[in-house]
Amino acid sequence: MKYTKKSYLCTVKTTKRYTPNELSDAAKIIRSGGLIAFPTETVYGLGADATTEIASRKIYEAKGRPSDNPFIVHVHNVEEVEKVAHLCSVSKKIFETFSPGPITVVLKKKPIICDTATAGLSSVGVRIPSHPVAREFLKICGVPIAAPSANISGKLSPTTADMVFRDLNGKIDGIIESDDIECGLESTVVGVFDGDVRLFRTGSISIEQLEECLGQKITVADRVKENEAPQSPGQKHKHYQPAIPLTLVENVSEISPAGGAQGGRVGTDCKPAPAERVGVMTLQNFNAPKNWDVHLFKDTEDYARNLYRTMDEMAQSGCVGIIAVLPSEAGVGRAIRNRLMRAAS
Ligand code: TXA
Ligand code: MG
Repeated sequence: MKYTKKSYLCTVKTTKRYTPNELSDAAKIIRSGGLIAFPTETVYGLGADATTEIASRKIYEAKGRPSDNPFIVHVHNVEEVEKVAHLCSVSKKIFETFSPGPITVVLKKKPIICDTATAGLSSVGVRIPSHPVAREFLKICGVPIAAPSANISGKLSPTTADMVFRDLNGKIDGIIESDDIECGLESTVVGVFDGDVRLFRTGSISIEQLEECLGQKITVADRVKENEAPQSPGQKHKHYQPAIPLTLVENVSEISPAGGAQGGRVGTDCKPAPAERVGVMTLQNFNAPKNWDVHLFKDTEDYARNLYRTMDEMAQSGCVGIIAVLPSEAGVGRAIRNRLMRAAS
């Protein structure tokens, strides 16, 4: 028998853009099994009803996401967490301290969440976002919402509605517009296993903050060693890649005045012709060629908030490559380094 792959995608030609005053209309689409991208304080999420298989399948198809990579389930408050997963005293404390906010906790899942949303795992990552539009939207939808970042798999996570639209126009039903994203990097992901807390993905909430809250050391498992199976499926997939080559340096002194980055540690070395424009993302000022596009961030929070948007703007405006001067490991710097290293690898 001939096998034909069934498409679950919506048939809209153009994705509708909703204002934050039109959340009820967008919520109706979620409740009828459709896909809506919505803003959170981290990045835009591509949302679907986490309790129905077909809605989750649509997300995998729209993003071109590997089918072994589970989604984070978003809920409105801690009582709602208990409807979708089993909480222990440690995970409860993490939610009470950092939620609503940019943290995801991996817990044992309850049957209400469909197996497709968790890629067949018996665990589920749960998050209570703090963005006011996301909170209101979750409340109106009245169902837990599965939402990975609203980008084509492997590309930059979107922090503006335009970035979502460019990637997913015609593949999803709608986008709720609200470009006031506070963190700019995906949530910190931790797993709690018999009281042991493991960090799977760094984010705005730092290791130091988690250890202080819990009064115990956490196991850092955000980097997969060669020949080791990842504990969080997303760790093995390509991520965060801009449309132009990215080179990383530790210090502006490594950027050669002739153009390009000498000794860039990771990524494709950028060796532009003199007339070509290079984008530079940095916390340290320096004397760049006049035609270069230098983005000087105020501090590491500003770097995190504008990282994806700046790389996107540099690619859109015709830069031939990007040089990123890495921040130090302190605080959110660790998460920025993690995203940039993966983007350049
Ligand atoms: O900030 C965020 O977390 C955003 C917004 C939209 O909430 N979402 C997001 O989702 O970044 P996504 O799918 O791009 O990344 C989710 C990560 C993946 O690396 C996935 O493997 C991991 O979380 N993850 C999800 N469920 C998991 C589970 N049950 N066990 C281990 N890792 C899990
Ligand atoms: Mg993602």
